[in-house]
Amino acid sequence: MTKYEYGVTRIPGRVIFGAGQRAVLGRVAASLGRRALICTDSRLSQLPLIDDMVADLAANGVTAEVFDGTGAELPLEGVRDCVARFREFDAEMFIGVGGGSCMDLAKVVSLLMTYPEPASQYYGEFKVPGPIRPVIAIPTTSGTGSEVTPVAVLADPERAVKVGISSPELIPHVAICDPELTLSCPKELTAITGTDALSHAIEAISAIRRPRDPCMAMERVFVGKNTLSDHYALQAIKLITENLVVAVEQGSDLAARSAMMLGSTYAGMAFSTAGTCAAHAIQYPVGALTHTSHGIGIGVLLPYTMDFNLEASVDVYAEIASVMGITADGGPREAAQKMIDAVRELLKQIGIPASLKDLGVKPEDLGAIAEQSMAATRLIENNPRKLDAEGVLSILDAAMQGKQAC
Ligand SMILES: NC(=O)c1ccc[n+]([C@@H]2O[C@H](COP(=O)([O-])OP(=O)(O)OC[C@H]3O[C@@H](n4cnc5c(N)ncnc54)[C@H](O)[C@@H]3O)[C@@H](O)[C@H]2O)c1
Ligand SMILES: [Fe+2]
Repeated sequence: MTKYEYGVTRIPGRVIFGAGQRAVLGRVAASLGRRALICTDSRLSQLPLIDDMVADLAANGVTAEVFDGTGAELPLEGVRDCVARFREFDAEMFIGVGGGSCMDLAKVVSLLMTYPEPASQYYGEFKVPGPIRPVIAIPTTSGTGSEVTPVAVLADPERAVKVGISSPELIPHVAICDPELTLSCPKELTAITGTDALSHAIEAISAIRRPRDPCMAMERVFVGKNTLSDHYALQAIKLITENLVVAVEQGSDLAARSAMMLGSTYAGMAFSTAGTCAAHAIQYPVGALTHTSHGIGIGVLLPYTMDFNLEASVDVYAEIASVMGITADGGPREAAQKMIDAVRELLKQIGIPASLKDLGVKPEDLGAIAEQSMAATRLIENNPRKLDAEGVLSILDAAMQGKQAC
């Protein structure tokens, strides 16, 4: 199979990127309906941003209500609360303004306003029965890529780990990516969200390449590595590795913030079809156990999963090394190892801890984490090196010790 034999991309009908582009919201919304529900959180609703958006919508003939009860990591109770409170308002569109949690809330609320509850019947892939009411996604972090992805991740108290609803129907109709909205992100948030984006791109380009099959794009949300996702992933890796440290250390640098937002959106476009692998599979139970954010768990795990995957991914890692400007006289294996070292160094520079112990994981937790990681079957199967519970344990052991695995 040649490199250019198969590709899938699924993205919003309109992606509008650039500093100040949030001002287009009113006109975009007017093209979709007359009633909008803005989904955001209590921190963001205190900024003038939301009032400005409501005024812009009104000036364009769109009546807006605001739900600002989105909880971090998206608890299901918050989703239900929003649906109950605004069912009568009967919004024609949902505007997610915030990080991944707020954008994911807008997707799930739109789903539950269009089709019956409970949300649990839609967990998994391709379970959404048809189109949902339009979603406009406006990210305020450069991280999840949710503004372009077919995924919403939520915390259901009846499930031990977070659950995902994955369907092309969840892809927002419009993404408005305005990097000025990330200028207020504090250092740590910039670091962990940027790390999440980097991991999306690295995992997408390293995912397994499945045999070509004409039905695959209609049967799998995540088809694995393909020529279109590779394109977005490489662009993302270049932008993020060149700009993440500056964005963390000089948060007011609009050029770095713009590059990060473009990079995280590209990373979203990449993993939207390729999917993610081991780091994401293992973070879900780690996050549930330690109540740490998605991005920080991903940051700790990413280098150890790359150590584990190295031999299966030499050529891909060497390709990543070349967009990162890493040279190696000794050939692809050396370039691949240097690339992992460079990612490790980058994560250290932005303050990501080196060990799972720093997140509160204890040695006695590892067995349960490994078992729950294996339940994320589609991510486990997407990993470039065959991954079983023993393999997950070896990654976890290395990540506990803060040392390179073999
Ligand atoms: N749908 C997807 O494709 C996808 C992909 C990866 C992760 N996720 C999910 O996204 C969520 C994480 O999203 P996130 O990392 O963007 O964080 P988040 O949405 O949980 O927000 C974290 C905190 O940052 C604050 N914040 C957001 N923007 C800010 C800004 N500009 N200035 C200051 N503070 C700001 C929020 O108010 C909140 O307190 C998780 O639930 C994760 O599972 C979704
Ligand atoms: Fe992620």
